[in-house]
Amino acid sequence: MLNLKRITFAKSKQTLRRLLLNLKRTVSLLWAIDKKLTLTSFGFQLLSQIESLTSVYLFKLMIDNVVALINKNIEPQQALRNLTLYVFLNFSISTIISVLGNYANLVEGLLTEKLINGINYRLHRIANRLQIKYFEDPAFYDRYEKVRRSSQGRVIRVFYSITETFGEFISAVSFLVILAFFQPLILVLILIGVLPLFVFNSFFAHKKYLITDSRVPESRLINYLSSMLFSEFNTKELRIFGLHRHFQKLYEETSEKFNRENARVWLRESHKRVPLQILSQGSSFIAFAYIAYKAIFGAISLGSFNFYNSAYTRSERSIRRIFRNLSALYEENLYLNDLFEFLNLSESFFEKSGGKITAGNNLEIKIENLSFQYPGSKEYVLKNINLEIRPGESLALVGKNGAGKTTLVKLLCGFYEPTDGRILVNGQDLKLLDLEEYRKKIGVVFQDFSYYNFSAGENIGFGRLEEINNHKKIEAAAQKAGAREFIEKLPKKYNQLIGKQFEGGINLSIGQLQRLALARAFMADAPLMILDEPTSASDAEAEAKLYGQIEKIAEEKSLLLISHRFSTVKIAEKICVIDKGKIIEVGSHAELLKKGGSYAKLYRIQAKGYKDK
Ligand SMILES: Nc1ncnc2c1ncn2[C@@H]1O[C@H](COP(=O)(O)OP(=O)(O)OP(=O)(O)O)[C@@H](O)[C@H]1O
Ligand SMILES: [Mg+2]
Repeated sequence: MLNLKRITFAKSKQTLRRLLLNLKRTVSLLWAIDKKLTLTSFGFQLLSQIESLTSVYLFKLMIDNVVALINKNIEPQQALRNLTLYVFLNFSISTIISVLGNYANLVEGLLTEKLINGINYRLHRIANRLQIKYFEDPAFYDRYEKVRRSSQGRVIRVFYSITETFGEFISAVSFLVILAFFQPLILVLILIGVLPLFVFNSFFAHKKYLITDSRVPESRLINYLSSMLFSEFNTKELRIFGLHRHFQKLYEETSEKFNRENARVWLRESHKRVPLQILSQGSSFIAFAYIAYKAIFGAISLGSFNFYNSAYTRSERSIRRIFRNLSALYEENLYLNDLFEFLNLSESFFEKSGGKITAGNNLEIKIENLSFQYPGSKEYVLKNINLEIRPGESLALVGKNGAGKTTLVKLLCGFYEPTDGRILVNGQDLKLLDLEEYRKKIGVVFQDFSYYNFSAGENIGFGRLEEINNHKKIEAAAQKAGAREFIEKLPKKYNQLIGKQFEGGINLSIGQLQRLALARAFMADAPLMILDEPTSASDAEAEAKLYGQIEKIAEEKSLLLISHRFSTVKIAEKICVIDKGKIIEVGSHAELLKKGGSYAKLYRIQAKGYKDK
């Protein structure tokens, strides 16, 4: 149950301050994206308000002129000349403004597009430099995704609210200043009419904001449920276990709970608003009666009566619009907070780009006393690891599920920094290297390898962008990875679109996708290959062939191979057994068998599985 009592004035003041800060940031962002368009857009708002002010004033002059003519206070010819001038001025100004308005719409359209692009470019740049740990942090990632996905619609809403508020602000201020000079009582009546309503509405907007804020965890859950119901990845299991109905029900229950809460809160607010609305209407009535009496008793002219009446209604309307926009912006504040938090992320969130790797094309990796805990966890996933991969050497890692093998791969790729100890690359601490430069020197197949909804050829060529058009190299990489045969059987061979994201694409089997990933890593032609379970999805025949290839590659390059299959691990010169994050044995296949330790035991268990009974 929501407790709305916790909404305090201090909190709402703080949120208002945040809102104003966010508005300032949005305008600065617009300014940074396109100064000319921003100026034009705000300039037009200014012009159109000046137009409305002048047209109200010219109308007053026209009425006064006609009244003077009726009262014979002015010569008919003079009156006609005056009237012609006022009418001409009025129509020329409004024609200019309406023609400019046509371009103003264009400018606003262009600026919103540029704004959306500008935000997206900035978010992409952030995503590309963000440390991997933030992608694995659900709260952070979820907010990032939300900002990314909702940037389009929300940014447009925010933009229009801001420009409209600016225009209405100019209009309200100009009419209010005039009233303050000539009819201060009316100004007081306007304030009585709209201020209490404004304070009330901003409290309500604040309440709505807090309600949305307090629902973030539940909203995240239902968004997750909704995306799961639509995901190709989950749908098979959802149906088999009947989970789809369960999740759908959970979604509906939560949404309906939100609905009921909203209805309750909104109804209560509507009741409370009634006296304020009566007050507002009352002050409008008094203001009108006041200037009408003044006009009847000749204290002001008929033109002035009309002018003050317009000034009153227009400034009141503008203030209402400002408030309406502010409360709409209040609701966007959560999004704006997140957006600017991401756009202003400090350097500590990003991967460091240090010095340049100096050594040539051979990598010598030395892992020294390395221990590692994942951020936010107290468990050591790796403990005091010492390992070396010399140029040209092949090293295999074996160990149970969860032993820490993939974690070591992530550390070697520079995705995480060791908690203790260090990784030396040709004698230099990996922490200090230019990661982009270093990563060009490693070819990796991740355990959770990916693929791209591009052509088969591109899927391989992406391993080395400079050579993406080098068909011979792509074919050779495909050949080594055992992918050539199936690619050549695809309807469009190397031009075949992979994946079902776009029309004309086809789904490959997991084993085939893994071979594409392997071909991509081979394409990189890097001095160090890191293969984390590269044949986990291969059939026995393919696997045997692949290991022949990997063995060949190991002759030319350094290799770090992770595999649960001991028959394949044998090819490595050095085998390292990891258990619960610690190295428990190191040696060649023959040495470890002779030693009769953990490796020998596991090897025999597997070998026994293959023997005929
Ligand atoms: N992003 C993460 N955040 C926190 N803990 C993690 C993360 N990734 C993995 N772990 C934990 O680290 C431990 C080691 O995981 P890792 O993936 O390195 O094991 P592995 O040896 O590769 O296992 P497998 O043979 O199943 O691939 C596991 O206990 C896992 O729970
Ligand atoms: Mg693993």
